[in-house]
Amino acid sequence: MILLDNVSKYYKGDKKPALDEVNLHILPKEFVFLVGPSGAGKSTLIKMLTREEKPSYGDIMVGGIDYKYMKKKHIPHLRRRIGVVFQDFKLLPNRTVYENVAFALEIVGVSNSEIKRTVPKVLDLVGLSDKAHKFPGELSGGQRQRTAIARSMARQPKILIADEPTGNLDPENSWGIIKLLEEINNFGTTILVTTHDAEVVNQLKKRVITISDGRIVGDQKSGGHYDLDGSRSRIAKRSLGGPAQAQQPQHIVVPQTQIITTATIQTTAPAPADPVQPAEPKAVTKKPSTSGSAVLEQMKKAKAAETAKPVAKRRKFIH
Ligand SMILES: Nc1ncnc2c1ncn2[C@@H]1O[C@H](COP(=O)(O)OP(=O)(O)OP(=O)(O)O)[C@@H](O)[C@H]1O
Ligand SMILES: [Mg+2]
Repeated sequence: MILLDNVSKYYKGDKKPALDEVNLHILPKEFVFLVGPSGAGKSTLIKMLTREEKPSYGDIMVGGIDYKYMKKKHIPHLRRRIGVVFQDFKLLPNRTVYENVAFALEIVGVSNSEIKRTVPKVLDLVGLSDKAHKFPGELSGGQRQRTAIARSMARQPKILIADEPTGNLDPENSWGIIKLLEEINNFGTTILVTTHDAEVVNQLKKRVITISDGRIVGDQKSGGHYDLDGSRSRIAKRSLGGPAQAQQPQHIVVPQTQIITTATIQTTAPAPADPVQPAEPKAVTKKPSTSGSAVLEQMKKAKAAETAKPVAKRRKFIH
């Protein structure tokens, strides 16, 4: 679950907020597009979730972690729960596809044997098994983004956030990436994607949240369209009397039992603050409780329990 309660963000020296009293509630397993004009605040909202930036006001809770109680030392734990994918991929150029994905596991203390089991499965998931030993410079843009997604998914985060993942890709590769995100969502991962690609948004018919001038002006719960002024938002029209009022604070009460403060988070090895400049591995106090392949197995079981859907060849290992 992702929850923003009346969140505002003023960057240093700015009088106008980049985010202005934003309220947002995203349920587990949802697929959400975040759209809006350039400068609307999309990336700022994402940076709030990844804790790259702190809100000036308001509360944030992600995956049961209440950010109010989060200290700097807890941020790596958060980043293991949230996978992030960027427009510019942020791959390590001198490491192969395999090594880029493996590194994401190495730095959280996953054993070599576990890495050897997990990486091929994750590469299979994103359709890159045959590129495992290529360097990023030898890949197409779409393949680079698939590598970045594989790296994010290797630790099996509950939430995958993608900030304009198709921004550098041609339409065909963009579709491939969006379909891959949809597939990952079908396995139960919550997906939040920012995009300027109206065609993709309109075809997928998912929940679409529109942000403008730092305020949420539309929230189409399903069957959403790319709509920069939020005028098509059923929520805005029906429940709140129009886009101009769609932003009124709607405080959401979360049962206390769901809240996990950072005090209760298990201590494991640190994750990199930035995938481009990963932190050197430090002493691992405890191995992550759920290993890569174990989680893939969990996904396999969860997926098998769902209504049968056509099975893509490269997803075989999960089924
Ligand atoms: N690090 C920063 N310091 C100061 N101001 C910033 C910073 N990052 C963003 N801003 C400002 O905050 C506002 C929102 O920017 P943000 O990057 O969130 O927009 P966006 O919706 O992601 O735009 P785009 O679609 O172009 O990526 C803009 O006015 C921008 O200039
Ligand atoms: Mg942005």
